[in-house]
Amino acid sequence: MTFSVQQVRADFPVLSREVNGQPLAYLDSAASAQKPEQVIRAEAEFYRHGYAAVHRGIHTLSAEATQRMEEVRQKAANFLNARSAEELVFVRGTTEGINLVANSWGSDNVRAGDNIVITAMEHHANIVPWQMLCARTGAELRVIPLNVDGTLQMDIAPTLFDERTRLLAVTQVSNVLGTENPVAALIALAHQYGAKALIDGAQAVMHHPVDVQALDCDFYAFSGHKLYGPTGIGVLYVKEAILQAMPPWEGGGSMIATVSLTEGTTWAKAPWRFEAGTPNTGGIIGLGAAFDYLNALGLETVGEYEQTLMHYALAALADVPDLHLYGPANRLGVIAFNLGTHHAYDVGSFLDNYGIAVRTGHHCAMPLMAFYQVPAMCRASLAMYNTFEEVDRLVTGLRRIHHLLG
Ligand SMILES: Cc1ncc(COP(=O)(O)O)c(C=O)c1O
Repeated sequence: MTFSVQQVRADFPVLSREVNGQPLAYLDSAASAQKPEQVIRAEAEFYRHGYAAVHRGIHTLSAEATQRMEEVRQKAANFLNARSAEELVFVRGTTEGINLVANSWGSDNVRAGDNIVITAMEHHANIVPWQMLCARTGAELRVIPLNVDGTLQMDIAPTLFDERTRLLAVTQVSNVLGTENPVAALIALAHQYGAKALIDGAQAVMHHPVDVQALDCDFYAFSGHKLYGPTGIGVLYVKEAILQAMPPWEGGGSMIATVSLTEGTTWAKAPWRFEAGTPNTGGIIGLGAAFDYLNALGLETVGEYEQTLMHYALAALADVPDLHLYGPANRLGVIAFNLGTHHAYDVGSFLDNYGIAVRTGHHCAMPLMAFYQVPAMCRASLAMYNTFEEVDRLVTGLRRIHHLLG
């Protein structure tokens, strides 16, 4: 498939606006991606002509909405190459997906004296739920350390596993460094010890195809809003046998088979057992449109374009005086940096004045900031709608800031 960035950009209405008198250069897609007209329209059309609460209705609109929601579950299964749509739970996002696993599977399977292995580059969403589970159960949290270039110390990793390891929880791609971790090797290592493996796919799914069967992971979570879909909707994949054995974590409507005040409650089958309450159906419909959009472009084609842009950006940024880049040469999606000793907020504010949107702060990865001994970083994300010209503007902007601030 051929890729035309200008055609893609034309689908994203916000990209044609100005910010501070300059054309917007949106380099913050790793925080949240912009939405194409196709996603906006699908969600709006659903609210205009197809809206009703799902599951509980016998009337046509409700039945149609239920069918459309289940079609998106199948699309999510195809997107991840899961065996069955019944392995996919709709959640609010990656954070909720990981918390679901920690609270449901974790409470059933993790005991005092057990351990959970994570890495030093995790987003707080893949640290804090495990800290909370360890505090509740008396389990130990073990951390695979980093090399200075932002890759994992893979020689140390095997020494952290033992027969009491219950889970490996690791990000596929770092949201700060762009490092793509060797997750297949880590999953195999976890399985050697009888542990399960959870992959945080929040920063991976938009850059290349993901195949959960080939990876052989037990859990995989991602967010719709980083995949050009709506906010407030995400997907958790769980291998069917594990999901069917997991207890519910939230109680309410739609997740039960029967409720009796005298005889208690029985649960619905998974995945519906994990979807208590009225779901975000509009978000689900929008997510379905985002899958369609990416499938039509071809994720491999998208990934190739993004890689070319990334190589161009890394080469161009290498010449900016006093610019410190974090992360490995081979990376996906993001470039974190600091300019001299200037605080990331100052640099980010200057760039905003030039119409360039980057993220600044700790990026929900405080342990990683501690590792690099900085309070904050700037982060430019490169998505499929970004251009070489926008990269040039970032480079020029940074040179100008360096000149102004010294
Ligand atoms: C690697 C990673 N994990 C988890 C999350 C949390 O995603 P959400 O806030 O959509 O739940 C993010 C979001 O920035 C992320 O980058």
